[in-house]
Amino acid sequence: MARIAVTGRLPEEALHALRAGHEVVAWRDEDAIGRTALLELVAGADAVVPLLSERVDADLLDAAGPQLRVVANVAVGVDNIDLAACAVRDVVVTNTPGVLTDATADLAMALILAVTRRLGEAERRLRSGELVRWGMFVLLGTGLQGRTLGIVGLGAIGAATARRARAFGMRIVFTKTSPADPGLVAELDAEHVDLPTLLRRSDIVSLHCPATEQTRHLVGSAELDLLGPSGFLVNTARGSVVDEDALVRALVDGTIAGAGLDVYADEPHVPADLLCLDNVVLLPHLGSATVQTRTAMATLAADNALAVLAGEPPVTPVATPG
Ligand code: DGY
Repeated sequence: MARIAVTGRLPEEALHALRAGHEVVAWRDEDAIGRTALLELVAGADAVVPLLSERVDADLLDAAGPQLRVVANVAVGVDNIDLAACAVRDVVVTNTPGVLTDATADLAMALILAVTRRLGEAERRLRSGELVRWGMFVLLGTGLQGRTLGIVGLGAIGAATARRARAFGMRIVFTKTSPADPGLVAELDAEHVDLPTLLRRSDIVSLHCPATEQTRHLVGSAELDLLGPSGFLVNTARGSVVDEDALVRALVDGTIAGAGLDVYADEPHVPADLLCLDNVVLLPHLGSATVQTRTAMATLAADNALAVLAGEPPVTPVATPG
């Protein structure tokens, strides 16, 4: 019987699957597990099933011990995991691609609509008791039809967001580090450009690249200057992709028109300077937050952990360095 450490609350379906034949130790509080409790929880585990809020680094792997075989992240992003430290210890890493594509693309589209149509600002004013009536010039936003959406990172979620935007009559330009699928490019009638060109040509830029050393602060003050005073930035990827201080300055100065953010550099902290701005829509990392999606993510993570423990290949492995 293997020992499986689950670092946060999971849907019952996934826990049930893990418990069949294994000992499961799980953090059950709504609040995220603290570091000390986390290191205690993983001690002696053969599998760790972490949430994206938990840092899986060399210290955690050592605290778990040499019997650890798999880290089955309940997220598609693996920026919380030190892949090199896992590789040197022969620990398999898995993630949850595919199952959260639609939910995250839906949320990116929701942010695009919310920020361009000023929905957060409008609702705040209405709820504050201000009498907001229909008026020819009241709370005018920006229409999407005929505008250009720049997708930074045309992976599965970027493509799903682009499909939604096409249904709203938008044109698509995109960046991608690996070659793009010609069928997808034709379907989206999209154009592959470099980042400066994308920023210059886009009315709205939506970020869909992973958080890596290469993408850290990919969007800073120079890039926001290129996007310009009528441009909007939407981030459902990871906070580290954007230089948050530069973004605050750009939103205050009117260097860009607005932003829709689901992710932050130091979650769950949201910079106070953002909280008081009307031209930004702020969500607490809700991209995958539907009942169906969270259940699918947890179930896939459980399947991955169980496969490795059974000596089988995992369903969705992450390539580790070396
Ligand atoms: C992920 O899976 O990386 C998402 O950010 C979760 O919401």
